[in-house]
Amino acid sequence: MFNMARVLTGIQSSGKPHLGNILGAIEPSIKLSNKKENESLFFIADLHSLINIKDSKIRSKNTLSIAAAWIAMGFDYENNYFYRQSKITEVCELTWYLNCFTPYPMLVNSHSFKDKSNNLSSVNNGLFTYPVLMASDILLYDADIVPVGKDQKQHLEITRDIAKSFNHQFGDTLIVPDCKIDENVMTIPGTDGRKMSKTYNNTIDIFLEEKDLKKQIMSIITDSKGLEESKNAEECNVYKIYNLIANKDQSDEMKNKYLSGGYGYGHAKNELLELILDKYKDQRKMYFDLIKNEDYLNNVLKLGEKKAKVIANNVLSRVKKKLGY
Ligand code: TRP
Repeated sequence: MFNMARVLTGIQSSGKPHLGNILGAIEPSIKLSNKKENESLFFIADLHSLINIKDSKIRSKNTLSIAAAWIAMGFDYENNYFYRQSKITEVCELTWYLNCFTPYPMLVNSHSFKDKSNNLSSVNNGLFTYPVLMASDILLYDADIVPVGKDQKQHLEITRDIAKSFNHQFGDTLIVPDCKIDENVMTIPGTDGRKMSKTYNNTIDIFLEEKDLKKQIMSIITDSKGLEESKNAEECNVYKIYNLIANKDQSDEMKNKYLSGGYGYGHAKNELLELILDKYKDQRKMYFDLIKNEDYLNNVLKLGEKKAKVIANNVLSRVKKKLGY
């Protein structure tokens, strides 16, 4: 018999996804979910976001724009699972059980906490116990594979350790997931050449209205070579971004224009804008339609939540039985 692999990943709910998220996470995840041997559970980590975001309006707005973006990018939510973490409250119960199998020093050493430990007064216990909630997200759904970026590797190791520790004491109960760290995930450069990130305020947001998108693209930092000069495309932020979304012919053509001179950065920026508008035309339209239709988005997520709850209850009963509750 053919065994389905269950692929699970959590999406930070920090707002509308930008081009870096799309190329680095959304497109590869959707590709993985379209393989027939996989069953995918993608959820919006809106409990994790409470660590920083206390305003419920912002949190739900973020959640809906993420949902709209994933659907617009083509995630097949009907044949997979798409849900809000907070709606499956079983995850909180499991978090408590797992807390009791998590050695304190492991959390002290986790980088999500360690990075902030020089300013402890700003740390809430949610941040401290963040990796345990994440372990619970994964173990509650019997996930086999968890694709994440390099920055989450340590959290996955913690998840595996917690699951093994539980299984060691109670016999095989929890599935120990494999991490799938994509080592060659591209680092997507932002408008200032550093990694594209909300933190650096250097993002390109393909789901912005055209005039705001244009502003972002025009703000890409370049050197000060004059229009007539020959330029090296590989060194230019505009080209680097263009190259990630263009096909080979388009990229080669732009590279040649850089080289031959008489082609300025303004021209390249306009071409990048045109390419984004053209390449993501359908997705942009769908996003703008969806974002106006909150009921639709809520219904999509509710559908996923209903299905996810079934798996969660199953696993939680298994755990509770072992624990004697
Ligand atoms: N911590 C992850 C991030 O910051 C998001 C996340 C929460 C997650 N729970 C998860 C990822 C479970 C994978 C599996 O990106």
